Amino acid sequence: MDSIIVKGGAPLQGVIPIAGAKNACLTLMPATLLSEEPLTLTNAPRLSDIATMTELLQSLGAEVSSLQDGRVLAMSTHQKINHVADYDIVRKMRASNLVLGPLLAREGQAVVSMPGGCAIGARPMDLHIHGLEALGATIELKDGYLHAKAVGGLKGAKIHLRVASVGATENILMAATLAKGTTVISNAAREPEIGDLAACLRAMGAQIEGEATGTITIQGVDRLHGATHSVIADRIELGTFMLAPAIAGGEVELLGGRIALVQAFCEKLDAAGISVEETDKGLKVARKNGRVSAVDVRTEVFPGFPTDLQAQMMALLCTAEGTSVLEETIFENRFMHAPELMRMGAEIDVQGGVATVTGVDRLKGAPVMATDLRASVSLILAGLAAEGETLVSRVYHLDRGYERIEEKLRAVGASIERVHS
Ligand code: EPZ
Repeated sequence: MDSIIVKGGAPLQGVIPIAGAKNACLTLMPATLLSEEPLTLTNAPRLSDIATMTELLQSLGAEVSSLQDGRVLAMSTHQKINHVADYDIVRKMRASNLVLGPLLAREGQAVVSMPGGCAIGARPMDLHIHGLEALGATIELKDGYLHAKAVGGLKGAKIHLRVASVGATENILMAATLAKGTTVISNAAREPEIGDLAACLRAMGAQIEGEATGTITIQGVDRLHGATHSVIADRIELGTFMLAPAIAGGEVELLGGRIALVQAFCEKLDAAGISVEETDKGLKVARKNGRVSAVDVRTEVFPGFPTDLQAQMMALLCTAEGTSVLEETIFENRFMHAPELMRMGAEIDVQGGVATVTGVDRLKGAPVMATDLRASVSLILAGLAAEGETLVSRVYHLDRGYERIEEKLRAVGASIERVHS
């Protein structure tokens, strides 16, 4: 298992290119199942999660070619589709459940393994099931697999989501594009990745309105045709790298960044004393003065503060002037980075879904362990500011969501290297 060694203290200077969004690409790829014609994605990120989704789609009979060093994914499913998504692949990545809606719409049946829980929470699928059953599917859980059938095809329906679930919105949206009649999804997720999926489906001939409003209306069509679609910029990678100069000092420009992608996050950075300037190429980020100030953060569904940036923000606030309160409202167990940051000298008190962080002058480098994707990158960020050397182990978590992170940070002056073991 690889590790990464970070030596703290160097202020950063230069530019970091932002890749295509992992969480957009992971829902755009299963959309290829909705048409027998080719779907090509450009600006695709080169991540292990994308490789896992590629493996899953190929196991279902799709042809997926990774071109231009992984930046282009050329996919087609013109031949017979296998409708069983195997546990061995699904257990590696929860987003595998996003083949459920497209398979039901295309084949009228699907057998998809339940993903199982993960480090940050139980990750149930009741909202996916509720929505697809409303479209006329029958779904039962047997031997850890969801057995779904839509005899006679799917029919449009009015669906209200108890929670604005990103994945459930995506599964229901994709299925509804080929259902007979009209579907309305209320309290739908509004994350930019949903907007990117809707844009791609419209390019394939789907009739969709309202994806930015929380109420999505879909007129089902008989078939979808092929398309070429460019994956939206990754707002979570963007926010993560904006914190690098905030934590380590210096000034970095994030190419492809736009404030609109991270509005709520930028408001908190401003309150903490970080300047964000929109340029014609991206976002320029620097600390306004010496030490950052404490701010309170509450994660919410979009357009609120993203849960996927909570761990990274905590790393910044560990060295802030004052005490910050971070409330995690989306997942039940998303503070596993806290004990690791405490090994570096952070002062954090976790009570249920609330973490109270009292800033210290300087963190101290230490050996720490990555537990999940975003927790692991918060340790890298903390290492950039810490005194001495931080060794982050189990960085396979990192490679799921960050493309060549040590190269991107080294290019702006960070002292960081990967150790293969
Ligand atoms: C997506 O996960 C993202 N993953 C997550 O990013 C992100 O943290 C999450 O949305 C929230 O923004 C991808 O897009 C691949 P949810 P998803 O359904 O769709 C509960 C990362 O780091 N819920 O919006 O699985 C659920 O337990 C990953 O890139 C139900 O109760 O998230 C959670 O508490 C981590 N029943 C809340 O809703 C359901 O049927 C939000 O989950 C589904 C979800």
